[in-house]
Amino acid sequence: MDREWYDRNYPKYEDMRMQAKKDGNRLRYHLMPPAGWMNDPNGLCQFQGVYHIYFQYTPFLAGWGTKIWGHYTTRDWVHFREEEPFLFPDCVWDRDGVYSGCAFEKDGEIHYFYTGNVKLSDRQYDYIREGREQNTIHVKSSDGMTAQAKQLVLSHADYPKDMTKHVRDPKVFAKHGNCYLLLGARDKEDRGCALLFCSKDLEHWSYVQRIAPQEYFGYMWECPDLFTLNGKTFLLACPQGLPKKEHCCQNVYQCGCFTAKQDSQKGTYTLGEFKELDKGFDFYAAQTFEDEYGRRILLAWMGMPDAEYDNDVTACEGWIHALTMPRVLTVTDGKLLQNPLKEMEQLRRNKRHTTLRAFVCQETKDCCFELHLEFLEHARAMTLWLREDVMLGYQDGVLALCLGKSGCGRRKRTVCLKELRSFTVFSDTSSVEVFINGGEETMTTRVYSESLEQKVWFSDTDADAQVQWYDLDGYKMQWKLCK
Ligand code: FRU
Repeated sequence: MDREWYDRNYPKYEDMRMQAKKDGNRLRYHLMPPAGWMNDPNGLCQFQGVYHIYFQYTPFLAGWGTKIWGHYTTRDWVHFREEEPFLFPDCVWDRDGVYSGCAFEKDGEIHYFYTGNVKLSDRQYDYIREGREQNTIHVKSSDGMTAQAKQLVLSHADYPKDMTKHVRDPKVFAKHGNCYLLLGARDKEDRGCALLFCSKDLEHWSYVQRIAPQEYFGYMWECPDLFTLNGKTFLLACPQGLPKKEHCCQNVYQCGCFTAKQDSQKGTYTLGEFKELDKGFDFYAAQTFEDEYGRRILLAWMGMPDAEYDNDVTACEGWIHALTMPRVLTVTDGKLLQNPLKEMEQLRRNKRHTTLRAFVCQETKDCCFELHLEFLEHARAMTLWLREDVMLGYQDGVLALCLGKSGCGRRKRTVCLKELRSFTVFSDTSSVEVFINGGEETMTTRVYSESLEQKVWFSDTDADAQVQWYDLDGYKMQWKLCK
């Protein structure tokens, strides 16, 4: 699907876009595809004041298909513009999809690195060990809107010999005057890892190291990312194939973060503990960037590949999936915290304030609210009921998020806490994001309620709390017009 093909076919899908935009499950303050399919956030950056949010996108199909890079921009995280798609599969290195990648600013230009996916179809392949190419491609832009010529910088000949054909999702970062590039990979013994390369000019990359724990940690890693915050280094990755445990790794794939240490002589990294970034049902392929204010911002795909639960209700209306709210990352006492970006406060309307004991069942008209609760005393048990059949319950050090029919197969996710001090629930038409204990834990999930007029109430709660509550407005979207 090159740009010309896209332009020619775009008008034919006007009905699909109209249908998608009318759907009652459309989110108000989350980014979704105009129509079709969205997955990973890509190329996140702020350039000359403008935030660019690119994403994996199949514009004409609400299902898995050939990926292009869709594109939104914003200056304030309230007003968003749908831009023309930024990258298309249009050369031999990426003909079956422009896969995930990053943006890196240098000398007044944005440098993008992404994976060009090529699937051979001349005969039967397993597409793991053979039959596929995953090329690392470099593209520059002076404005974030128009891409210059593509340049192949790494291909399988440059990856270590013991890798399968699954090597993808470049992330570039600078450290001590060098540029580094990370790739997610699967080796021939089915062990997941990240591969580290180094460059001085962003064109010639030399292999540095394979980063992985000593012990097996899944068969494949996707979407790695590495950054240092408050003197602590973290490696984000999405390992596939970790065993399920009682309160950990409950999803089919994980999206989490290792603590990492760099050897200052060799530049190599060793990994410490791994922690899931989110304990809900729908959180994957997180990507971070530093904005012009020095904030480390994270967005993730609010979805989960190959999950046993579904999103068919929106796929039937011509669209599927969304991104999480933007989250700012901070480090306190060595812990990585995620909290909603401050700009989200601009969406607040109609503040209400009470205590938990005085809280009487609240009616919500449209499910778009923010509910913040801060315990005034040690809590041993609490149950919050919201939407049709969603329950957030705390008991004996375990917080559980339980969904009924509106979960479309999503039943229960849990997280262990030393104590429950506070939480904030962000409810949107078809999603719930919970930030717990100042962002130490989060739980993100899609939910498909039949009616948006609902009640919120507490039960079985043994401690009092301050409760704050706001209605939330939606993003102001400026959609592209049909040419
Ligand atoms: C993660 C992922 C990436 C890949 C992209 C394809 O969700 O599978 O590894 O680049 O999505 O859309």
